[in-house]
Amino acid sequence: MLRTHTCGELRIEDKGQQVTLCGWVQRLRDKGGVVWIDLRDKYGITQLLFDEGSSPKELVELAKGVGREFVLSASGVVIERLSKNDRLPTGDIEIKVEKLQVLNSSKVPPFIIEDETDGGEELRMKYRYLDLRRGPVRGNLELRHLVNRKTREYLDNNGFTDIETPCLIKSTPEGARDFLVPSRMNPGEFYALPQSPQTFKQLLMVSGFDRYYQIVRCFRDEDLRADRQPEFTQIDCEMSFVEQPDVLQMFEGLVKFLYKEIKGIELDDFPKISFEEAMKRYGSDKPDLRFEMKFVELNDLTQGKGFSVFDSAELVVGINATGCGGYSRKQIDELTDFVKKPQIGAKGLVYLKYNEDGSLKSSVDKFYSGEDLKAWVKAFEAQPGDLILILAGEKSQTRKALSELRLEMGSRLNLRKENEVRALWVVDFPLLEWDEETRRYHAMHHPFTSPKPEDISKLKHDPASVKASAYDMVINGVEVGGGSIRIHDRSLQSAMFDVLGFTKEEAETQFGFLMGAFEFGAPPHGGIAFGFDRLCALFGGQDSIRDFIAFPKNTSGRDVMIDTPSPIDRHQLDELYITSKHIP
Ligand code: AMO
Repeated sequence: MLRTHTCGELRIEDKGQQVTLCGWVQRLRDKGGVVWIDLRDKYGITQLLFDEGSSPKELVELAKGVGREFVLSASGVVIERLSKNDRLPTGDIEIKVEKLQVLNSSKVPPFIIEDETDGGEELRMKYRYLDLRRGPVRGNLELRHLVNRKTREYLDNNGFTDIETPCLIKSTPEGARDFLVPSRMNPGEFYALPQSPQTFKQLLMVSGFDRYYQIVRCFRDEDLRADRQPEFTQIDCEMSFVEQPDVLQMFEGLVKFLYKEIKGIELDDFPKISFEEAMKRYGSDKPDLRFEMKFVELNDLTQGKGFSVFDSAELVVGINATGCGGYSRKQIDELTDFVKKPQIGAKGLVYLKYNEDGSLKSSVDKFYSGEDLKAWVKAFEAQPGDLILILAGEKSQTRKALSELRLEMGSRLNLRKENEVRALWVVDFPLLEWDEETRRYHAMHHPFTSPKPEDISKLKHDPASVKASAYDMVINGVEVGGGSIRIHDRSLQSAMFDVLGFTKEEAETQFGFLMGAFEFGAPPHGGIAFGFDRLCALFGGQDSIRDFIAFPKNTSGRDVMIDTPSPIDRHQLDELYITSKHIP
């Protein structure tokens, strides 16, 4: 070992010890006759002391010549500091250096490598290896490692076997877009990178593995957001001979275990809310339950009074922003601008102020009497000092917009507290959703999800009404995981592909292997996959998953450090039999 100790471990009890430390120069202070260097490694920072009065001149000169991020080896004796630093665990001591070796020099780093940095996002990404030297980013990856280890501990203790599934698989039209990989040995043919190991884990159940898991990389060519990366990691799990409650219990257990072990938080049992209820009450299938502010539908109380916006609306719905009755004109205008933003898409916002003195003031006073408005107040169970905010329009759009407004009000009122955890299951999803563009049904989760047994008979004649044995786990408004009980019967799987608009031939070419396997004794099975990066970001109290991934992509799907995607040479394209007018 080049060192006897790390930069984070020496304390006053070590006074007098002869030690050697290695690390990076975080800061250098040169006060004429005395030089201090803060030496940093992943364990902490220790101060080095060079004193002209008592150290050889060459040693002090060598120390004065080092720059930020130089790599040093320093040997000397641990002494007590004159002025202690109680913000550092090593702050009571320093090393009086007797021997200094520069192990490597460094260019001036492009941004400050400290907890607080002056580096912008793009610059930090370009020099990600330097960004990872910073405590908070490194801490995120250490947290990730811990979540990984604890997940394995729980699943191992519950009899799950970790099995790897392939990365070069077959492209299928369901779900997001695939990333494709051309096959040199099979001209004109392509592999796809897996969006998830879904079909493989089901085949492992047919093989009798009974309980499978994998912490596995998945790839999806979709639009990116703070909580989406083109390659991300799932905790992917599957179990045989189970029903929905068994799966929910097992994986609620996993998340409770993780919160207990990692955050020291004991979670209550997770409530279950149906998809329908979630949409009606929160306008979202991933409601943030850290605060109430439930939707109240007002069609009956608002229509037929001459206000055409409400009269012509499929849905009139609002929330009670408790305690916001004192909002100024300007604040209400801000909220109106918020809902009118193109990504929210509402046409306007109606408000009703319930003033502290009991009087009512709304933006639609001309259409509604005092009695009418009192009925609204009653429907919301509002109190003096509250502000009722109402949107109207097409049902799903209006719910979506009000859901955004609810979250905005939750944030404004500081109701979305980072240290509060509200987990729930959303259950009873519809099996299918109608897609106007392709004019066909799509599977809401994926085509292997089982309809609820009592709904199977409706699959052919009333597909829209069929509910699925599918579930999502939502924590603080983040969809952290989703899964289902699967179809394990060939004829039901085949009927499902019929409903999804596959011809018999298409179903056979794309999923014949799975349906074939179902004919060899497939057990009833079900499972779930968690977004591992999302779970880590939740534990780390952040919205973006990017800083919980060592080398992430930016929002255009680029890795700016290695500069990819990048063009490839004509010769490579020829070898892969790829020619296209789009490639320069
Ligand atoms: P699903 O598509 O819901 O289910 O994915 C499971 C979980 O993975 C996370 N996730 C993502 N995280 C980061 N970036 C992305 N682009 C991304 N996409 C999804 C989410 C999500 O809840 N095979 C099924 C699971 C099953 O049925 O067992 C599946 O992949 O947290």
